[in-house]
Amino acid sequence: MTAAAPSTASRSPSPDGGGFDAHAARAQFPILSRTVNGRPLVYLDSAASAQKPQAVIEAMTSAMSGSYANVHRGLHTLANETTEAFEGARATVARFLNAEAETNIVFTKGGTEAINLVAAGVGQSIQPGDEIIVSQMEHHSNIVPWHMLRERCGAVLKWAPVRDDGSLDMAAFEALLTERTKVVAVTHMSNVLGTINPIAEISAKAHKAGARVLIDGCQGAVHCAPDVQAIGCDWYVLTGHKLYGPTGIGALYGTAEALDSLPPWQGGGEMIETVEQDRVTYAKPPRRFEAGTPPILEAIGLGAALDWLMGFDKAQVIAHEQALYAHARARLDGFDWLRVLGEAEGKGAILTFTVDGAHAHDIAQIMDRYGVAVRAGLHCAEPLAKRMGVTSSARASFALYNTTEDADAFVDALIKAREFFI
Ligand SMILES: Cc1ncc(COP(=O)(O)O)c(C=O)c1O
Repeated sequence: MTAAAPSTASRSPSPDGGGFDAHAARAQFPILSRTVNGRPLVYLDSAASAQKPQAVIEAMTSAMSGSYANVHRGLHTLANETTEAFEGARATVARFLNAEAETNIVFTKGGTEAINLVAAGVGQSIQPGDEIIVSQMEHHSNIVPWHMLRERCGAVLKWAPVRDDGSLDMAAFEALLTERTKVVAVTHMSNVLGTINPIAEISAKAHKAGARVLIDGCQGAVHCAPDVQAIGCDWYVLTGHKLYGPTGIGALYGTAEALDSLPPWQGGGEMIETVEQDRVTYAKPPRRFEAGTPPILEAIGLGAALDWLMGFDKAQVIAHEQALYAHARARLDGFDWLRVLGEAEGKGAILTFTVDGAHAHDIAQIMDRYGVAVRAGLHCAEPLAKRMGVTSSARASFALYNTTEDADAFVDALIKAREFFI
């Protein structure tokens, strides 16, 4: 590993021509100035996990070096200061999602845990034959917890189909809704196709049928501008490490009513009202779902990441990312050896592809030699891979710190990688 000075040479503006300065954003990420295999790092794996800006690194470091103690239960200064920072992060998440109040935000250890929390709670009242609708483009995190209800409670899993272009078949989704539908669990944005789903419409239709709605916002929270009240969902899930924050932290938004409907899912300190020898009563949400010492530093890091992110104009960020995608996609146009998975209108900046005659793993490994980091495999979305007829694919995912130079380096490396297989 070699550190290199950030390059300011041959800068191009954001390809959308808008006001977003990706180079200035990029300069705030220390890791992005390093080299890989003797080349400048071109990091295009942010859909798996994003890099961290200095603001997040500093927030977590200064919490550890300046004011740290356990939260909530202390009467001393450090405990109070840390509690304030921790609860401040909750308020930041609420602001980021336009939640009604901080009490609508539960901290979890990630997106996966948030979905499991909801599924475990819902499962307590599921009867055999009750239905849960997911889409074919879900990440395993939004499939397996519902499969577990199928196995444990006899729930019926129904699949909203994906069209060839990667969009959700809304008519087919609507036809799946019945009076037995208890939950509709759909992703805001696909981590493979980049498809952005009409989640407000999905929520309205599901509610009309009497179902509750969980939106997996692990990608959508990063690349869209989620407003949970406008969406009208019951639950919305995000994960910190894709939002330029640390690992080990995520959040579950729920309406007061939807959170209240869930029983506690883990027992321990902090989630109770009273504990006696022969009875226990539970705290109200969000504390009811936060048993034990929470991920304090990680929550503070997430708060810092969201504060930092909210410092940008989100519309400009989205336009920048989509323009990078469009730039790379246009350069790849007409290559008959390439198949792009997901071309839905208005899609986000994720470019997933297969190369004729080459395994995606080999393509990713060769691209790494050119310093270009892409992901390859099933992307934790096996049902989708099956639907699209692939056993593996490679994925380049763009983030706000990527530049036109990155998009060009990606296309150049891909062309070179393909040459190994001709
Ligand atoms: C759409 C989607 N949902 C859920 C997850 C799971 O997030 P985490 O692994 O942070 O719990 C991911 C992560 O890749 C994702 O892309």
